[in-house]
Amino acid sequence: MKMIFKMLKRGVNVGLLVILVMLLSYSSMAFAVGQVEIFSWWTGGGEEEGLNAIYEVFKSEYPDVEIINATVAGGAGTNAKAVLKTRMIGGNPPDSFQVHGGMELTDTYVVTGKMESLTAHLKEWGIYDKFPADIMEICSYEGEVYSIPVNVHRGNVLFINKEILDKVGISSVPGNWPEFIETLKKIKAAGYVPLSLGDKNKWTATHLFETILLSTMGPYNYNGLWNGRVNFSYQGVKDALDILLELMDYVNDDHAALTWQDATLMVFEGKAAFNVMGDWAEGYLKTLGWTPGKEFNWMTVPGTKGAFMIVTDTFGLPKGTPNRENALKWLKIVASVEGQDAFNPIKGSIPARLDADKSLYDIYLTWSMNDFATNALCPSIIHGSAAPEGFTTALNDALNIFIAEKDISATLNSIQNAAKDYL
Ligand code: GAL
Repeated sequence: MKMIFKMLKRGVNVGLLVILVMLLSYSSMAFAVGQVEIFSWWTGGGEEEGLNAIYEVFKSEYPDVEIINATVAGGAGTNAKAVLKTRMIGGNPPDSFQVHGGMELTDTYVVTGKMESLTAHLKEWGIYDKFPADIMEICSYEGEVYSIPVNVHRGNVLFINKEILDKVGISSVPGNWPEFIETLKKIKAAGYVPLSLGDKNKWTATHLFETILLSTMGPYNYNGLWNGRVNFSYQGVKDALDILLELMDYVNDDHAALTWQDATLMVFEGKAAFNVMGDWAEGYLKTLGWTPGKEFNWMTVPGTKGAFMIVTDTFGLPKGTPNRENALKWLKIVASVEGQDAFNPIKGSIPARLDADKSLYDIYLTWSMNDFATNALCPSIIHGSAAPEGFTTALNDALNIFIAEKDISATLNSIQNAAKDYL
């Protein structure tokens, strides 16, 4: 402004000034390209660090777009999903949001007409064929892709505190339930918590249950539950409840007061020998300072060798988003090798991109990548892929009542009714 007044005083041509002002405002329009609101539940324990890493890639590519980091704390989206739904129903969508590939995306948001297809963008960016077909299938509906997978997490992992096992004198962890339970007994007798659980937010008990269910059904029949080939009166469902009940004798007493991070922390602090968790726990243990293979080991949950429980985080484009162009820029980073290779080694997940740089991934993630390429792939229930939300919520509620009341036949009844209602 000062400069303009000075120029006027000096008698500079008014016409020239008008052109100068127009040029200035045009250039500011060209550079100040606004904001993008990214919605997720990644607030801590390895999750936030991973998110920040991909944000850095975005910022270096689009320095003039401000990221509004809209996070709602609570593992597995305990609180975020409800907030998101209110916003989507209220016509106030974020520019892009974290959503699990599968039913959580399609049944909740795609069939209700709330998402834009991303197929044409993936083709335009030349990366339509750079993702595994199985993952793209669960991100699609009627042939159109509706969200972009940033990663693949594995759900059926048992994390192991090496030092405790050394002290108790356990040289290998059995891969079947009866012998595994014998191992838990030994650990308990030595004064440690054998298996840590933090089910304050409920979903972790369902997470444990679904990995047991995978073992008792086997991958083929587990997958059959979701396409009508197998029903919930199958013996494997009851067997899974039996095993869950037995495991509860070896779990920390304060499980109902803890989060998933608290339970993982018990392994880190040398209080608990094992924790069953998705491999975001690997990301968390690394941010705490542990190195895979050094202080901790891992294996598939007993009875699930050869099966890979898929949990995939994806981002989509809601219709009517306020900053659509910037949302597309974000999605391009989510889909990119650079974005995925910045995010996943920290997050504890493997990249969805087939052409990612494998050398950036640690020994644990390399194990996971190899298994993903060769194992039977099975969608997670509690992490949104296998079943519609109504079923998942009913299962979650039934299992939490089960843990308190231990009534197998009432629980079986509730699960079978939920299957009739929603599947
Ligand atoms: C899952 C999600 C993971 C991780 C975990 C714990 O549902 O897919 O990325 O964040 O919840 O919050």
